[in-house]
Amino acid sequence: MRVTVTGAAGQIGYALLFRIASGAMLGADTRVDLRLLELPAAARAAEGIAMELQDCAFPTLGTVDVFDDAVPAFDGAEIALLVGSRPRGPGMERRDLLEANGGIFAPQGRALNAGAAADVRVLVVGNPANTNALIAAAHAPDIPAERFTAMTRLDHNRAVAQLAAHESVPVHQVSGVAIWGNHSATQYPDLTHTRVDGRPLGLDRGWYADEFIPTVAKRGAAIIEARGSSSAASAASAAIDHVRDWVAGTPGGEWTSAALPSDGSYGVPEGVVSSFPVRSVAGEWRIVPGLEIDAFSRERIDASVAELVEERNAVRELGLLG
Ligand code: NAD
Ligand code: LMR
Repeated sequence: MRVTVTGAAGQIGYALLFRIASGAMLGADTRVDLRLLELPAAARAAEGIAMELQDCAFPTLGTVDVFDDAVPAFDGAEIALLVGSRPRGPGMERRDLLEANGGIFAPQGRALNAGAAADVRVLVVGNPANTNALIAAAHAPDIPAERFTAMTRLDHNRAVAQLAAHESVPVHQVSGVAIWGNHSATQYPDLTHTRVDGRPLGLDRGWYADEFIPTVAKRGAAIIEARGSSSAASAASAAIDHVRDWVAGTPGGEWTSAALPSDGSYGVPEGVVSSFPVRSVAGEWRIVPGLEIDAFSRERIDASVAELVEERNAVRELGLLG
């Protein structure tokens, strides 16, 4: 399979590429041809990573090519991991960040439209991930919008791990966790449908509202504070999980979380790229239907979706939705 990774010479890229090449994402029987896209200033560093990839002699790795132009980089891409983005700099407002990233994701959407495989799967990791996915999809009219997704799997994995630690159980015993809304501090990590070892969780509401939700929602900031830079290996690992499940299916009828263009489910306005509980069936994400949403959850889902609608309005005003 032909896999294009943008921001290949960045922190996440360095943690991601070796796992893709080793077969962790697409399995031991799938040969992967990697196409690395970087800015011209970082293309040399990406060449160095290509040399290291070759030196690993992974049996699953085919070719590795480096590009500083999106059009050839996405040519024939079956999977596109859009990691490279413009980080927020000193004095930059959220609007400046949305505008700067529009300058990246609009042309990348056009390049995907021009040359990617008709059934390309796109995962946007670069922040603000949900709205960047919306921008890219808006510039790729020939690719169905649902092929554009944004990553909330890291938030999902964080939520599973926090609950498992709280309940003193292994992570594999936790099921039915959901992330709703934006990959931002407004996200809602939902435990109201969660089971532990197959049994409904007796939810400690005080811990849930006062500790669990803020810990998961602010985990990205806590890692930046501790590490001095944003999460990289865990983000790469979540990207591997997202694409693996999308291609191979979520195991055993389980759900996970991913941000997809809304079909109007659960009152999320159509087209907004929001996180939902999802299953992957026959190579497609499907929003888990029919979950009961209590008043506590409703308020939190609505707040995060309102932020997404604001972001959509801001990029629309900037002319970034075409
Ligand atoms: P980084 O700064 O280390 O690397 C980003 C790389 O992207 C750089 O090498 C840069 O040269 C490259 N780049 C910038 N613009 C590009 C373009 N137009 N085309 C190709 N390459 C381009 O950053 P990182 O730590 O690897 O993080 C990447 C992004 O992922 C950031 O936006 C970060 O906020 C985001 N992130 C998202 C999640 C999530 O859960 N969705 C988690 C962690 C980080
Ligand atoms: C994360 O969730 O770790 C990152 O999205 C945080 C960030 O702002 O880069």
